[in-house]
Amino acid sequence: MAQRYVVQVGDPVLRKVCTPVKNFDKKLADLLDDMRETVEAEEGAGLAAPQVGLDIRVAVINVDEGFYELVNPVIVYQKGEQNGPEGCLSVKGKQGDVARPYKVKVEYRDRLGRKHKLTAEGFFARAICHELDHLDGILYIDKATNVKDVKNSEEK
Ligand code: CO
Repeated sequence: MAQRYVVQVGDPVLRKVCTPVKNFDKKLADLLDDMRETVEAEEGAGLAAPQVGLDIRVAVINVDEGFYELVNPVIVYQKGEQNGPEGCLSVKGKQGDVARPYKVKVEYRDRLGRKHKLTAEGFFARAICHELDHLDGILYIDKATNVKDVKNSEEK
């Protein structure tokens, strides 16, 4: 495992519409291991493949509910609304308020290609929505209000 370099806003890979994963191979497993190491080292709530330079539909979520590897994730249901602060490992030193669904259901595959479904609420749902936006080239700053500078320790 190795930490990967997290690209910053302005890098064109962050604006790509990512392509679905077709091969559930060792390269994917290595990527997921590296993304886990990277998001834990950076103390992020999630990380998407374009943030480490790859335009494929892979994200990891690192929240109180656990650690999740989402390959080819799709939100199949959403309900309610929440508004709260977000940061991003690719937009260092900033934070802004974003409206998100309160609850989402997501279908995804794991590193072996097996299908799964999960339901998330609150911050967990927010993290999923943020990471899935990355897979479509969308950054939270595109949607946020009150974007302000913060100290690194306050970032998520
Ligand atoms: Co982000």
